[in-house]
Amino acid sequence: MQMLQPVGGDLAADDLEAAYAYPLERTWLRLNFVATLDGAVVDAHGHPEGLSSASDQEVFALLRGLSDVVLVGAGTARAEQYAPVRPTEVDQDMRARLGLAPLPPIAVVSTSLDVPESLLDAGDDRARTLVFTADSAPGGRRAEVADRAEVLVCGDRSVDLVAVRETLGARGLRRVVAEGGPHLTQALFSAGVLDEFCLTMSPMVIGGAGSRLVAGAALDGPVRMRLGHVLVAGDELLMRYVREGA
Ligand SMILES: NC(=O)c1ccc[n+]([C@@H]2O[C@H](COP(=O)([O-])OP(=O)(O)OC[C@H]3O[C@@H](n4cnc5c(N)ncnc54)[C@H](OP(=O)(O)O)[C@@H]3O)[C@@H](O)[C@H]2O)c1
Repeated sequence: MQMLQPVGGDLAADDLEAAYAYPLERTWLRLNFVATLDGAVVDAHGHPEGLSSASDQEVFALLRGLSDVVLVGAGTARAEQYAPVRPTEVDQDMRARLGLAPLPPIAVVSTSLDVPESLLDAGDDRARTLVFTADSAPGGRRAEVADRAEVLVCGDRSVDLVAVRETLGARGLRRVVAEGGPHLTQALFSAGVLDEFCLTMSPMVIGGAGSRLVAGAALDGPVRMRLGHVLVAGDELLMRYVREGA
């Protein structure tokens, strides 16, 4: 056992970038979340913003900036009115240096194809949204969404997340950051496709019956994670865990 103590001084931007560098040998799926000390993922108003701080937002933006694609569940996309990433949201110079496209597209996972309007019809300055769905999706809605975003069918009755990961990799979108929510996270763990879990521990307790980080059915067994790093920002911890064996 060791006691971690803040060493003082701010981490340089380069060091922060290096701390979250993606392995480049293969597709790598990172998950990023913020939660309170008592495990809540939304505040009293039902949104994560109240849990987030400037440091968490800095890392959130960095993780988007380092990614080829941002993967999100339709529940979160609807609740948070997700929109295609704006050019001002990411560090363009860093992306060019790392051989990334100017902007990461949002890839939303939805069987119902109830995708928010805000994600459709990306303008010329934004990346076109990818919509991962299943064969069971309503046909009429599929044609409608396909006019306004790129629809990719992975799975028969529900979205097959192993196939989603393979499809992203085959398109060269190998640096993946998933932004939840809890149901998609359960499915990603269940499918065994997550490599990394970045968690900001927000120094507050809010109680209530809100969702945990991972919602839905219990996993078949515990997924063991190894500690990558812990950053300290005031009273907040930003942790990076890597799946054992990843
Ligand atoms: N604290 C944080 O960092 C954080 C991060 C993310 C989200 N959140 C919060 O979490 C809440 C939303 O989370 P959520 O759990 O309700 O929704 P979610 O996990 O974002 O999305 C679930 C939806 O994803 C779609 N889906 C398609 N295939 C799936 C599959 N194989 N497995 C799982 N989902 C699949 C389904 O959409 P269809 O119904 O369209 O088929 C399903 O309803 C929001 O309140 C959001 O603010 C917090």
